[in-house]
Amino acid sequence: MSVLNVNTSEEAIKLEHVHGAHNYHPLPVVLTKGEGVFVWDVEGKKYYDFLSAYSAVNQGHCHPKITKALETQARLLTLTSRAFHNNVLGRYEAYITKLFGYDKVLPMNTGVEGGETANKLARKWGYLKKGIEKDKARIIFANGNFWGRTLAAISSSDDPLSYSGFGPFMPGYDLIPYNDLEALENQFKDPNVCAFMVEPIQGEAGVVVPDAGYMSGVRTLCDKYNVLFIADEVQTGIGRTGKMLATDYEVARPDILVLGKALSGGVFPVSAVLADDPVMMCIGPGEHGSTFGGNPLACAVAHAALEVIVDENLTEKAFHLGNLFRDRLNAYIQSSSIVKLVRGKGLLNAIVINDSEDSDTAWNICLKLRDNGLLAKPTHGNIIRFAPPLVMTESQLLDCVNIIIQTLKTFEK
Ligand SMILES: Cc1ncc(COP(=O)(O)O)c(C=O)c1O
Repeated sequence: MSVLNVNTSEEAIKLEHVHGAHNYHPLPVVLTKGEGVFVWDVEGKKYYDFLSAYSAVNQGHCHPKITKALETQARLLTLTSRAFHNNVLGRYEAYITKLFGYDKVLPMNTGVEGGETANKLARKWGYLKKGIEKDKARIIFANGNFWGRTLAAISSSDDPLSYSGFGPFMPGYDLIPYNDLEALENQFKDPNVCAFMVEPIQGEAGVVVPDAGYMSGVRTLCDKYNVLFIADEVQTGIGRTGKMLATDYEVARPDILVLGKALSGGVFPVSAVLADDPVMMCIGPGEHGSTFGGNPLACAVAHAALEVIVDENLTEKAFHLGNLFRDRLNAYIQSSSIVKLVRGKGLLNAIVINDSEDSDTAWNICLKLRDNGLLAKPTHGNIIRFAPPLVMTESQLLDCVNIIIQTLKTFEK
């Protein structure tokens, strides 16, 4: 086989297997084109994308407004570094801060860099504003959290697959159960705690939705104990859950908001950390940054991607379609032996398969869904996440529900 010969899925998979690191276990499908809610494989088969690159493609694949912004800016100026100003960054910063209601934004690239930035900002604030003794600042996380793959991110992980073999770990991180305000308050009694970083819905953990009142409870406790509330909305933000932010469901405005993924509509790695001046101004020149953070190409793309969410009412669409999706699936599972539970908000949903965590049932269901023209992926063994692009129409969603139910039926015992 010639190295350049990638005419079939089999050839493409083989090349990846031989020449690429084995740090992922993709579903065997090789995609070559995407448009809206659809993707096509190299053999020309068309699929509904029901993962949206882990909620990065909320605006649909290759959205014309976003790709146009990319093309136009790519011909003008792509990167200056922050050694110089560029004429796109400020305009984007003004737009995103107004949209989300914060004084300032710090632009980065990937979601995990956004999380790192939030952690650094919180520690600095802890020393400068809360008066925490040097190197004593603590950040609290919830069990089941996922915010990426850097050493800091895995230092707060309780998933052995993420952290095993990669120590030593970042000090100053502690875990408590998710959805447990009492455990949180116990930690906050320590004056060295500077922040609690939490996902309003835990995506990677399997779309785990906390009780109503959890987010507003976090807000109240953070106020009471002078602790920063960091919301990791990298996966839940930008319309995905049926609100612009998942924290918008309650009175729960975070002190530090982390966004990524759909901030670029999946076109480019763009992340952002938003905060008000008393927090953001704790970091000065030279104390944090990234060569690519705030580059004009990313800013033009992110600006367009956010406008698409607003202009096309994608948040409201996610809310409506999500209700429809869960209604239909819930009706089905009443008589199902294979699906235990459907949960989620907006178009971030999951089904829990009635089998052990280490069974391959969820994987086999995803293979069958693929054969039936719909792409989804298990998270944590027996859970399948369903997160289609938000540009889906109602009739497309019903078509997908039909594919999912017909597929599940073939697995009923
Ligand atoms: C909630 C959350 N935070 C952070 C990240 C990390 O984002 P990235 O993979 O862009 O670094 C992810 C990725 O899945 C995520 O789900």
